[in-house]
Amino acid sequence: MTPKLSARHLLDTLDELARIGAIEGGGCSRLALTDEDKAGRDLVVGWMKALGLEVHIDAIGNVIGLRAGRENLAPVMTGSHIDTVRTGGRYDGNYGVLAGLEVVRALNEAKVTTRRPVAVAFFTNEEGARFQPDMMGSLVYAGGIGLNEAYAAADKDGVAVGDALRRIGYLGTARPGALKPHAFVELHIEQGPILDEEKVRIGVVESVQGISWTEYTVTGVSNHAGTTPMRLRRDAGYVAASVNLFARKLAWEMGGHQVATVGALALRPNLINVVPNRAVFTVDLRNTDEAKLEEAEAKVAAHIAEVAAAERVEVEAKVLARFEPVIFDAGLVDRVEHHAKALSLSTRRMPSGAGHDAQMMQRICPTAMIFVPSVAGLSHNVKEHTEAADLVAGAEVLLNLVLELAEG
Ligand code: GLV
Ligand code: MN
Ligand code: MN
Repeated sequence: MTPKLSARHLLDTLDELARIGAIEGGGCSRLALTDEDKAGRDLVVGWMKALGLEVHIDAIGNVIGLRAGRENLAPVMTGSHIDTVRTGGRYDGNYGVLAGLEVVRALNEAKVTTRRPVAVAFFTNEEGARFQPDMMGSLVYAGGIGLNEAYAAADKDGVAVGDALRRIGYLGTARPGALKPHAFVELHIEQGPILDEEKVRIGVVESVQGISWTEYTVTGVSNHAGTTPMRLRRDAGYVAASVNLFARKLAWEMGGHQVATVGALALRPNLINVVPNRAVFTVDLRNTDEAKLEEAEAKVAAHIAEVAAAERVEVEAKVLARFEPVIFDAGLVDRVEHHAKALSLSTRRMPSGAGHDAQMMQRICPTAMIFVPSVAGLSHNVKEHTEAADLVAGAEVLLNLVLELAEG
């Protein structure tokens, strides 16, 4: 019997997971290692067990469901993440994990035992919205940072990853990376506008752009907004605003794939009539080209140094994440394209603008990604949406690719 994907089941499980941490507007809030993340994990682990998968939880809380093959070989792994940003959508990450489980269900129902084992994983703290760096679980899995470094990462209330993992009961015993995949394939929504604008069904992802996250803390002097002459101000808020404007202008000037975002900004004391004495803000810079990303970083750093000197404020910079662009395995990328075309789906080769666990997995095994369209390019937004037909089409490409790889 040929394995056949259940569209109904895929859509139903997406709905059910989206009910955990549901927020107004149709989105989800399951920040990494919160009670909501735990509830989402428990639900998905239950589904893994019901499908007969052997569940492994590793020491950074990554969860891998393993389906045995005919031979004891390295598994073909698929998956993504189920944590979300605070104002996330229903599909980012979740789709890849639940589609992986539907691949397993299809194999089970067709009573197919593949040559290689098949594994479905969800990785801890992909989003990096609560703890940095992002892609933490897969980064540890690939040996990019050690467990102790990851455990020590703290959120803005000082809660450390190690303690948060223990608290929710997901500090597992397996060694991260113990199971080295034969190949890794991640199915994900595009989270950008290209496929939707061009009416293309499947994105064949060739690369992931580089990511640079820095947090700046600017310390000035608070003073009376009415009495302090402009020449005497040491305004931390002004410096933050200036960097935001500069970064945006820089991205336009550099063009190409350069993007720049000041996504978090906190002023102190944050009052209408007080010059801010403290500004803490983040700068997110990304580019597909490492040299250009370095150029953007240098220009932002030079600007902040210049404006801080003129305003006579102190600046501290802390790198929260820094990953170079990643090129996926060319042979595997070709197979994504092949399977999409074999299903008569239109394709487009493209880089990924967002960060993904796949970019870490490429360090340890041949890796590729499959994208499906995001309506209006919205993501990290409660209105994030992908049409059901596209969700199913992407999962069918995944199923056929996993089948091929698992027999290879
Ligand atoms: C993580 O998912 C990111 O791209 O910000
Ligand atoms: Mn994601
Ligand atoms: Mn995301």
